[in-house]
This record gives sequence, structure tokens and C-alpha cells, in this order.
Amino acid sequence: METHFVRLTVNGKEYQAEVEARKLLVHFLRDDLNITSTNIGCDTSQCGACTIELDGKSSKACTMLAVQAHGRDIRTTATTDDPILNSLKQSFQADHALQCGYCTPGMVMRSRELLAQNPTPTEDEIRDALHGNICRCTGYHNIVKAVSNAAASLQKKEDAA
Ligand code: FES
Ligand code: FES
Repeated sequence: METHFVRLTVNGKEYQAEVEARKLLVHFLRDDLNITSTNIGCDTSQCGACTIELDGKSSKACTMLAVQAHGRDIRTTATTDDPILNSLKQSFQADHALQCGYCTPGMVMRSRELLAQNPTPTEDEIRDALHGNICRCTGYHNIVKAVSNAAASLQKKEDAA
């Protein structure tokens, strides 16, 4: 079995490991590093459940190999010190934006990137940003509302500062 040395940062912590060349990043995170704050839905880049942030850009962790993450900085919903993520987590809960919750980590991570780039997105912009993330339960309405409310709450804090 061919393996490669990988060093990467996940949620601010550095990890080093020998990784099988063909292992997907999402499997590496969950099975080798025990970081289960990203889900596996389809394994074929359709559903978005595995969305993480890679060097600040949302990416589907089932679309790349673990070895490709060497030297990269990864963020998942387990990050606790990010104001945008914290605001999104609060809004998803308050606005009942999840039922089974399977899609939620991916929705939140994709939304984080959106709000980092566009702090005041319209409903259409939110729906457009989330078009690669599938939810089988909610009908999307409350997800869009949660992202919009998270944006408003962040804006309010900024105005008050
Ligand atoms: S598990 Fe990666 S997109 Fe579905
Ligand atoms: S809350 Fe169940 S898939 Fe979205």
C-alpha cells in the first residue's frame, strides 16, 4: 500500500500522518483524525454534506485526496472562535434551519464563505451560494432565513462596535 506523509492544520491544530495515496480527504478527516464535524452524503460531489473550508475557500472534502491537503489550513464547524461561524450556528438553531441535521455542517461552512465575502447577501444570493448543497428535509426556507439573520446580527454587532 502506497502512503504519503501529510501535515495539515485543522481548526487551528496541526496534524501529521502517513496517508494511503487513494484516501479521500473526508475519510481522512473522519476516520484517521476523528474529526467528525463534516459528514459524508454521496461521496460523488453532489450533496455538499462534506463541505469544509480549505485555505478560506469552501470545498467538498470528497472531491480531493487527503494527500492534496498537505500544507493546507482546514476549517470545519468545530471551530469555536470564528464570529461568522458562531453567528450562523446560533441562527440555524434559532430559526429551526435543520431537521435531521445531516446537511447542516456543509450548509454552515458554505454560508460562512458567503458571509465572509458578502456580509449583506440578498435572498437570491444566499440561494445561489447554496445551490451545491442539498437538504432533503427543510425545503430550504429556514436555511435561507438563518443565513440572512446571521448576516443581520453580524452587521448589528459591527455597527455597534
Ligand atoms: S459527500 Fe461530498 S458532496 Fe456529497
Ligand atoms: S436537515 Fe436533513 S438533510 Fe437537511
